[in-house]
Amino acid sequence: MEKYQEIFDRSLNNPEEFWAEAAESISWYKKWDVVLDSSDPPFYRWFRGGELNTCYNAVDRHVENGHGDRTAVIYDSPVTDTVRKISWAELRDQVARLAGALKKQGAEKGDTTIIYMPMIPEALVAMLACARLGVIHSVVFGGFAADELAIRIDHAQPKMILCASGAVEGKKILAYKPLIDAAIERAEHKPEKTIVFQRDFLRADLGQPGDLDWQELVKDAEPADCVPVAAADPLYILYTSGTTGMPKGVLRDNGGHAVALHWSMKNIYNVEPGDVYWAASDVGWVVGHSYIVYGPLLYGCTTVVYEGKPVGTPDAGAFWRVIEQHKVKVLFTAPTAFRAIKKEDPKGLLLKKYDLFRFKALFLAGERLDPDTYCWARNLLDVPVIDHWWQTETAWAVAANPLGIEQFPVKPGSATKPVPGYDVRILDYAGKELGSGEEGNIAVKLPLPPGTLATLWRNDDRFVQSYLSVFPGYYETSDEGYVDEDGYVFVMGRIDDVINVAGHRLSTGAMEEIVAAHPQVAECAVIGVDDALKGQKPLGLAVLKAGAECDEEKLKEELVQMVRTRIGPIACYRDTVVVSRLPKTRSGKILRGTMRSIAAGKKYRMPSTIDDPSCLGEVASALEMIGYPVEHS
Ligand code: COA
Ligand code: AMP
Repeated sequence: MEKYQEIFDRSLNNPEEFWAEAAESISWYKKWDVVLDSSDPPFYRWFRGGELNTCYNAVDRHVENGHGDRTAVIYDSPVTDTVRKISWAELRDQVARLAGALKKQGAEKGDTTIIYMPMIPEALVAMLACARLGVIHSVVFGGFAADELAIRIDHAQPKMILCASGAVEGKKILAYKPLIDAAIERAEHKPEKTIVFQRDFLRADLGQPGDLDWQELVKDAEPADCVPVAAADPLYILYTSGTTGMPKGVLRDNGGHAVALHWSMKNIYNVEPGDVYWAASDVGWVVGHSYIVYGPLLYGCTTVVYEGKPVGTPDAGAFWRVIEQHKVKVLFTAPTAFRAIKKEDPKGLLLKKYDLFRFKALFLAGERLDPDTYCWARNLLDVPVIDHWWQTETAWAVAANPLGIEQFPVKPGSATKPVPGYDVRILDYAGKELGSGEEGNIAVKLPLPPGTLATLWRNDDRFVQSYLSVFPGYYETSDEGYVDEDGYVFVMGRIDDVINVAGHRLSTGAMEEIVAAHPQVAECAVIGVDDALKGQKPLGLAVLKAGAECDEEKLKEELVQMVRTRIGPIACYRDTVVVSRLPKTRSGKILRGTMRSIAAGKKYRMPSTIDDPSCLGEVASALEMIGYPVEHS
């Protein structure tokens, strides 16, 4: 039997033994009573009765094990011209001091905080300081506007906000504090304190009640010890886009998360403690949580915090420079970053300036890895290029080529095999299991492995309804795809209203709510359409109110601004098409899927349930007019 198959079978046939063995790599204050508590399905809890501290495992124990002088974090910021290395001992001191300062300000186990920070080491320090105290953090991506932040403040109810005075985004300087103030103003919940890390290039005005200067606070702070928490206690909430304007607060526990991420570092990424691991993402996304912060640090790898872009900071050779300079063994990023590099430097000439002999593997995720980008990267780099598939909900890969177990030949377009722990099945809409090669809903048979979402924050009902109710006994991923005759998983795309724009997960439903709020719009739909660089981008279709005087160009510009202000620039909402009616079924359902097919240049069939076939023709002509490659039926 192959090594992978043996491990995979064991993980499904005897999950308790499998994960209990993996859990031996984590330091526990108290061992668990039950490995998997299945007494309250569909809620499952890993390591019930166990007590640990995630920060202790990610930081202190490396110092106690004699690695205090080794580098824990490399901060590389081309936008501020800085490279700084932080040892494990320094990291422990910084985290303990910030934790002490937070404690002095009243933070206690079980409280929540929001962290709104750019890619600087202090973002990691903030997350770890919360984990140290048993405080639940919720990091919000810096590309989200004040309204989105306000929604999260109201839902997470943070006692404190930790933020930076500002960020450098490409060539722009962004002031964060006014944005935080605006969000707090809009939110009903008012955090008691806002702790601001002042950056050299931009000092924030600390004039609001509760504003505090981070550097002042930590200067004389008493270091705080790690607080033992239960394995099932929450480590963090991470909001992710669902199908409506209200994001889902994915809740991550401490115990299962530490065990699973630690296990993944060797088995999936094939790194060793001491290796340099770089996830070129952002702490605001799940990739950042799992593989900039917790995964590498739990395993004792050096993590790279890169404050820059794949292109333009200063050029498309930036990734190669970082890999060479910091001796990176594994790079993890989104395919869109590679498409951006390929666009700027199609022949990869900039790579010739660097020696990448220590570089061993490129991992890509966050969106579908199109075969063109895969082949380009594979031909350019003399290392395995690994597509792996996962979601904010899972925290780590559901399907991957597990380099630390066994390296499978790559099939372009496939994320390779289900990862041990995940019982992946393809189901039709009635929940019947489909055979190899048949496309359907990708589901995972319960229980999910450790590390995956425990529930949604303060919303068990939405958790059950969103993920567990359509196919009882399974977790519904909302992705569709198939498994081929060799057991390779092919993920083809989302079946809901979630889109991926430059690796950023966004809700078209949330954008629809904004477009519909324009006084001249009677009705609208926002769909995801293909984009050569960003993978997908949103496109709005709007029906105007009868008799309304309307300057269409002005309306379109206003909609762009509304989405930028309410969601943020990362939504990349640029195009709106005005039509006289939206195509609908006779029962009134908007035919979003058919419109997506038209915009993708696929031959579309007139749905038999359509109310008025001429609507679809009008949409097709309107899309054709603005350059979509429409194939008429
Ligand atoms: N804070 C504030 N604004 C941000 C931001 C942040 N952290 N990230 C992006 N934005 C802004 C950009 O400045 C841009 O604003 P603009 O419309 O005023 O120009 C807008 O959001 C769109 O940004 P983006 O989609 O990132 O486009 P880009 O042209 O700036 O860069 C890429 C394109 C491909 C280089 C970039 O998207 C990228 O590096 N992607 C990788 C994504 C990634 O790591 N995803 C995480 C999952 S693994
Ligand atoms: P996020 O929660 O932001 O990580 O986004 C998760 C979604 O991104 C998944 O549900 C998929 O639709 C998509 N995705 C992530 N990785 C891949 C991949 N390797 N292949 C295809 N789609 C992916």
